[in-house]
Amino acid sequence: MKVADSGSALREILKTVPGPRVLVPTMGAFHPGHISLMHRAREIAGPNGTMIVSIFVNPIQFDRASDLAAYPRPMESDIAECEGAGVDVVFTPDAGSMYFPDRSVTVTETLLSRGLCGATRPGHFDGVCTVVLKLFLLTGCDAAIFGEKDFQQLAIIRRMVRDLDVPVEIISCPTVREPDGLAMSSRNTRLTPEQREDAPRIRKALLEAASLETADEILRSARTLIEASPLTRIDYLSLVDAETLQPVIALERPAVLAAAVFYGEVRLIDHIAVKAR
Ligand code: PAJ
Repeated sequence: MKVADSGSALREILKTVPGPRVLVPTMGAFHPGHISLMHRAREIAGPNGTMIVSIFVNPIQFDRASDLAAYPRPMESDIAECEGAGVDVVFTPDAGSMYFPDRSVTVTETLLSRGLCGATRPGHFDGVCTVVLKLFLLTGCDAAIFGEKDFQQLAIIRRMVRDLDVPVEIISCPTVREPDGLAMSSRNTRLTPEQREDAPRIRKALLEAASLETADEILRSARTLIEASPLTRIDYLSLVDAETLQPVIALERPAVLAAAVFYGEVRLIDHIAVKAR
């Protein structure tokens, strides 16, 4: 396995690697969700292709300085996990090598990114689109793997690739969960034991609400179940069209019930599909 800590080092390594090239973009602090993406990447790349994992805590997608500062960065163990997962190339740039201090070009998606996380985290998806496009260009990847856990991010990246004719195939992987249903996230390690014990309520609330009949009932029930805990603060709870991500009031087409919930400073997201009625 090779490690490149700058774009130029990466380009040098990639001159000689066999295709197809499959990229798994990450911010590190690996858990089994990330590792499942790497296994999928290997399947797509085949035994002779090249699996590239990027580990970069992208400063321009953080809307809160405290969240960026607190983001875990266990670089040594992450690199060891890449080795274990059969990664061929790990790309670990620092912010200085990714962004010019006077950078002035940003990729902005203007429709799907308006609601949900986009509404409460201004600039977040501009940061995601910009870094993901840079990673695609730096690696020259043929395919890239993303988790369905961040379903708005996945939809926005698919839209960016479609609208800008980016020659990268986007492949998605299902959400990996803890045995109690909590979606795995690098942020889970920042929960207190009491918060961690409470956090599966998000998934339970979404599951229970999704089986109800009307949009109104679904939203009310999920809110009640989440707010039943004094530890939670809802950032958003929305029922949106599965394709356009615009809010729905009637369940005529497939929808998604999505939530972002704060436990103290830690913000967790989850979602569930809601069938058309
Ligand atoms: P990060 O949060 O590190 O996630 C990297 C990838 O892992 C994303 O595609 C995410 O959807 C996926 N992932 C996270 N938790 C998962 C889980 N429990 N099950 C399955 N997949 C999971 O998402 C980002 O980084 C960044 O925004 C990035 C795309 C790297 C751009 O900076």
